Amino acid sequence: MKIISTPLALKTYLKSIDKSIGFVPTMGALHEGHISLIKEAKKSNEFVVVSIFVNPTQFAKGEDLLKYPSDELRDKKICEMSGIDVLFYPKAKDIYGEDEVSVLAPKIRAYILEGFTRPSHFNGVLSVVMKLLNIVNPSKAYFGKKDAQQLMLIELMVKQLFMDVEIIAVDTVRENDGLAMSSRNVYLSVDEREDALCISRSLNLASSMISKGIMDVESITEAMREFLTPLEIYYVEILSREFEKIPQVTIGKSIILVEVKVGTTRLLDNIWL
Ligand code: PAF
Repeated sequence: MKIISTPLALKTYLKSIDKSIGFVPTMGALHEGHISLIKEAKKSNEFVVVSIFVNPTQFAKGEDLLKYPSDELRDKKICEMSGIDVLFYPKAKDIYGEDEVSVLAPKIRAYILEGFTRPSHFNGVLSVVMKLLNIVNPSKAYFGKKDAQQLMLIELMVKQLFMDVEIIAVDTVRENDGLAMSSRNVYLSVDEREDALCISRSLNLASSMISKGIMDVESITEAMREFLTPLEIYYVEILSREFEKIPQVTIGKSIILVEVKVGTTRLLDNIWL
């Protein structure tokens, strides 16, 4: 595995590679979820690039940028053991300059759900993803379904800006007890970790209501809210896959999204119906 830290060095190196490139962008603190993205990338590409970059522009003031989990040695070892070809490990000064050009996320779909309480978040995400995709120029780029709104907005950016990359959505990986894998899970105390199980259980409750034929969005979200009550709820929504409001669940076309605060940690999860 080659480790490269500047965009120019990576672009120059990749120009000499005549292979299909699969790209997995991450912010490090790698876990099984990231490893499953890498495995998918390895399955259908001849060459795999992973980036580790904690992108400052997607964190608002007062968020966890400075304490975002990071273990460089461990992450490098995981990348090496996963058999990737290149690890791109830039610093903020390699990615950002002054008086920056940036991508503006769409006014509606980036300002609901996650974007309602973090209004600058998706401008930062889309800007850095655009930069990373331009540096790596992959045939395929891999993103987790757990960050469903991020995934939808990246797909939208690629489509609306006529970008030449295929976005591949990869299923959420869960702990044995159902908790969705997230780099932020390390913030949870033992008790908070237990409380966090309510999230996947509320999604299971919704699934079981739907399997009994209850398709009414209001009834399902009300039952989920009640179940999640001890936690601070940011949102519980059932939307179309295009993130529009719907009155009834349609199997194959809907998604249930939850975000709650457990202790001081925001955790999100979803299921694709
Ligand atoms: O999902 C993440 O880890 C980040 O938002 C991403 C896509 C790497 C952009 O910084």
